[in-house]
Amino acid sequence: MEKELELLFTQATKKINAATTISEITTLQLEYLGKKSTLNDLLKKMKDISHAERLTVGKWANEVKVILMELCQTKRSELETAKIMALLEQEKIDLTLPGYNLVLATKHPLNQVIAEISQLFQELGYDIVFGTEVEDDEYNFQRLNLPIGHPARDMQDTFYLTKNILLRTHCTNMTARAISEMKSKDEIVAMISTGNTYRRDDDDATHSHQFMQVDGFLIAPQISFANLKWTIQYFCQRMFGNDTKIRLRPSFFPFTEPSVEVDVTCVNCQGTGCSICKQTGWIEIMGAGLINPLVYEACGQASDLTGFAFGIGIERIAMLKYGIDDIRRFYTNDVRFLAQFKKFD
Ligand code: DAH
Repeated sequence: MEKELELLFTQATKKINAATTISEITTLQLEYLGKKSTLNDLLKKMKDISHAERLTVGKWANEVKVILMELCQTKRSELETAKIMALLEQEKIDLTLPGYNLVLATKHPLNQVIAEISQLFQELGYDIVFGTEVEDDEYNFQRLNLPIGHPARDMQDTFYLTKNILLRTHCTNMTARAISEMKSKDEIVAMISTGNTYRRDDDDATHSHQFMQVDGFLIAPQISFANLKWTIQYFCQRMFGNDTKIRLRPSFFPFTEPSVEVDVTCVNCQGTGCSICKQTGWIEIMGAGLINPLVYEACGQASDLTGFAFGIGIERIAMLKYGIDDIRRFYTNDVRFLAQFKKFD
């Protein structure tokens, strides 16, 4: 029996040492040490041998069992470590590889100008709205004192979608909407509306059938032209620098009375005269005025409200601010052009 035990021990040791996978170890463990193992079969035969032999064989058998068990465990953990090491090797990450060069986008120059203007007016307490681009004739024209058939409509060649629905020709439509919603005569409303506007214009270096505006107004008791003038002066200095002067010229807009066209000292020559300001030293940047009482009436309010309004072309401001020569550059998504505005973002 001792011989059998010895044979079993050498055979098992050899096989366990030669195992290359964990499942092989499991099988060998069952084969040599499990319930139905060769070792157990041997132990069952113990009852047939002499007492003296049983003592030595029993001790031996136990030792064989312990040694084989330990051997299995060592081999198993060896194989497990090898498996993990192989996996690690396979999934190795080379941290020295250079990363992808992410190209970060820039805010579009027109959006930068809108953000700057919005920020400025927000500081003065104005609300910011964006509004409807597809508008009713009523809010785009009629409630702004531009009744059907009014000749001033011709200034804003229009895209009509149906007889009464059109693409808004200016952001002033939101002024009509806000005034129409006023609940009381003493209400103070200050609002900036920005976004796209559309006119059936020919596209050239300074015109586009789609462009952006900022339109603003303030209604409060006892507002006078002086308040409008201060606001325009403040706005122009913030946008173009502290030395900027303004000049107001009488003009006409159906929704304001009196109306003015606002000029600023040329951003290029500071007023001495150059090709950009056509040697005049001044550049026209916006329309403004005191809100026409007929607008209050058309919006269902008392005609003795007081307030002022103004409208600014965003592209024009951006062109002057950044020295851009052609309005079409804003719309063609040329990254070489757009990337230049990173420094202002
Ligand atoms: N809506 C005018 C335009 O698009 C600009 C304008 C002028 C707006 C005077 C105003 C204003 O609110 O008071 O040409």
